[in-house]
Amino acid sequence: MQLSTKHLLGIKQLTASDISLILSTATQFKEVLQRPVKKVPSLRDVTIVNLFYENSTRTRISFELAEKRLGADTINFSASGSSVSKGETLLDTVNNILSMKVDMVVMRHSASGAPHFLSKHIPAAIINAGDGINEHPTQALLDAFSIQEKTGSLAGKKIVLIGDIMHSRVALSNIYLLNKMGAEVMVAGPPTLIPKYINEALNVKVEYDIKKALAWCDVANVLRIQLERQNQVLFSSLREYNMAYGISRKLLDELKKEIVIMHPGPINRGVEIDSDVADGNESIILQQVENGVAVRMAALYLLAGNKPD
Ligand code: CP
Repeated sequence: MQLSTKHLLGIKQLTASDISLILSTATQFKEVLQRPVKKVPSLRDVTIVNLFYENSTRTRISFELAEKRLGADTINFSASGSSVSKGETLLDTVNNILSMKVDMVVMRHSASGAPHFLSKHIPAAIINAGDGINEHPTQALLDAFSIQEKTGSLAGKKIVLIGDIMHSRVALSNIYLLNKMGAEVMVAGPPTLIPKYINEALNVKVEYDIKKALAWCDVANVLRIQLERQNQVLFSSLREYNMAYGISRKLLDELKKEIVIMHPGPINRGVEIDSDVADGNESIILQQVENGVAVRMAALYLLAGNKPD
């Protein structure tokens, strides 16, 4: 089986079959990662550049590890310390890198649509590792993989995304994916951080009362407040945000059921989530990070057009 697309630009462009294929391939690669020798030669002789124009810890390390586990040659590019500061354009930078015989590009950029633009001008396959406030497709795929692993399925599950929906590429990719895979989706948080008309535009429920949102869901995916993307004051203070919308042990203890707690990272402890929740029994935050390697191996492998060994 093959993906219906040459690039992984966003979940919006994937079919439900593409998503199922990536998740089932990731299951095979997760098994590889449990072995004493955690490597397969599936991408031997493939060269991949990790092109990061924006900071990253998890995504960047996870992609690099996934590439190495598949036997690919990898090179890493950071905009800081490069000739970008001398005025070189994105297209010139990438064409110069590709002239050194690079086959695939993993790319993070602060401009929404940057990987889509690039895909129209270069022959190499592109994986979007996060573009502005648009999409973060491999995060949504690893979130879906982790939900499936923890609860058995995506279809029919009630997932709430909590917090800064307005500035979150993780939220948009999760909404697209969960809708395509038959889950029920809610967004919850302060009205100033939830886009108007999102319920009609993206087929999600909206809830401003965090207790009601938690009572409704099976899984709560808690999002970081993206202060770096906010150019106006959208809530009074981080302390008051935590009091009104932060996920606390008290809120979870008041529920009459157990729910799964997720967070894409990086966490702002004591703001959107308290430490005893982030580190508590309900949390699968570190499993999400672990699963990211297998999911990215699957995406790289399928886009390179190979079959598992
Ligand atoms: N979740 C995520 O994208 O984290 P990084 O910004 O550290 O890559």
